[in-house]
Parts: sequence; C-alpha cells; structure tokens
Amino acid sequence: MALTVYLNGQYLPHEQATVSIEDRAFLLADGIYEVARVYGGKPFCLDAHLQRLARSARELRMPEPDLAELARVSDELLSVNNLSEATIYMQVTRGAYAARTHAFPAGPVKLNVLAVARPFSAPETLWEKGATAVTVPDQRWARCDIKSTALLPNVLAKQTANEAGAFEAIFVKDGYAIEGSSSNFMAVRDGVIYTYPACNYILCGITRNVVLDLARKLGYTVREEGIPVAALDQCSEAWMTSTTSEVMPFISIDGKQVGDGRPGPVARALQEAFRQLR
Ligand code: PDD
Repeated sequence: MALTVYLNGQYLPHEQATVSIEDRAFLLADGIYEVARVYGGKPFCLDAHLQRLARSARELRMPEPDLAELARVSDELLSVNNLSEATIYMQVTRGAYAARTHAFPAGPVKLNVLAVARPFSAPETLWEKGATAVTVPDQRWARCDIKSTALLPNVLAKQTANEAGAFEAIFVKDGYAIEGSSSNFMAVRDGVIYTYPACNYILCGITRNVVLDLARKLGYTVREEGIPVAALDQCSEAWMTSTTSEVMPFISIDGKQVGDGRPGPVARALQEAFRQLR
C-alpha cells in the first residue's frame, strides 16, 4: 500500500506530494531536517528532535515551524500508515519563490514542511557482530551543529565507506576523530569514554546525549574531549551513536582491529541500557 505523507497541511499519497522546482532546498540546500525513531508506535525523544529542528531554524534565520503541529502530524502518519517500528523524517525548507536568489526572499517566508514516516528494520545482526568504519578528512563547513540538508560531504563520506565495504565513515579534523557521516563517535581509552565536545564542528546527537547520560548513570567516566586518530590503537572499544543505529560497536577502523575485534563490554552495557529505555 502506498505511504501517506504530510506536506504543508495536507496528507497525501506519496507520489502526489510534490514541491516546486523553485524550492530553495532543491536549488540551494536551504533546508533543515530531523530523523526520529519510532518504537512500538511511539516516537522516541520526539520533543528533543523538535527542539533541535527549531534551533536549526533559528540559527538559519528561518521562521520556526509549528512544533505542536509536527508532533500531531507524527502521530497521524504512524496511525494512517499503521506503523510500529519506523522512522519519521521531517524537513523544513525556506520555501519556493519566483526567481532564484542567494539572499532570503524579499517578501514573507512561506516554509515548505514535509513529514514522512516509513517502516524501519533495526540492524540487529550488526549490533551483535559489530560494524566497520573508515576515516575520511572532514571537508564540511563550520556550522555542523545545524542539521541542514546541505549534506554533500556527508554523502561523499558515506559513499567512500560503502565502497570500502564499511558501515560508517568517521570525519577527521585536525587529527581528531570527531563524528561519523551520520552519527556521533565514542571510544574507550584507559576505561574512560571519550567523545568530541558538542560544538560547531559536530551535530550534537540526541542519541549521543541519551547514551552519555546512561554511561554516567552506569558509573562510567565520560570525557567530552576529542580522540586523536593516532590514539585509536590504544582504545579498547569504539562505537557510533545515532537515531537509527543506537549504539553500534566498531570492530575495526581503517582495517585495524578495535580491542579484541568484538563488541566490547562498555558498548554492550550501553546497548542494553538503551534497549531498556526505548
Ligand atoms: N543523522 N552526526 C551527524 C552528522 C548526523 O547526521 C547524525 C544523525 C548524528 C546523530 O544524531 P542523532 O543521534 O540525533 O540521530 C550525528 C541522521 C539520523 C540522518 O542524517 O539520517
């Protein structure tokens, strides 16, 4: 059965939901987005995702979308599409205007607001077995804290990973492994969990925050400090966190084994704690 999606106040069959060729996200990547996970028909951390969407809008000087409406839309999409294990994708663009200009449109801004809920099947086997990663130079801009649809460096990084047979690409900036192409990065060194500090060079992941909170509750020491790539061979464990991957252990990075080449005890404990929460 065709998916029903939401576009600008209307629920439509997927193939009938279209936007103008003048849409500024199509022409200029002038858009923002969120991806939320749904467990048993209930969106997880939806409010945090919506708050981050509003922040992205403010940082790009876009009007804020109606968050209460988006929360209702999420529930409605899950219900009409009869979804239980799913993701919700939300995108807001600065809209479509008569002619392409770099600067903001002169008149009032009319956002294009899209939401799509899709069935999702969790990467259970990979969680068990562990995933592989490669490192790539970070060629992005200095506002990676904004969840914008301008994702070309991330697209190229993920493609590099795919072609190397790896699950994720880890961006390297000034010698530090800072985050994944669509995930945050964490590693354990001398029993301490390290992850890059929330700043303009990474997206402050909702999963990152949940996992750091769980780690502290479980009694681990957490340091929001970068891990030099050169120190990865001293790390007993490494993993990524994201909405769709939760806690995904890495068993090798750039072909070098991480720890004993199996998901380690800290990643396992965090996976389990996350499972209890969702
Ligand atoms: N990606 N860093 C980047 C660059 C990301 O794109 C994402 C999420 C994350 C993790 O954020 P969160 O835990 O809030 O999902 C970190 C989404 C899932 C995507 O682009 O599909």
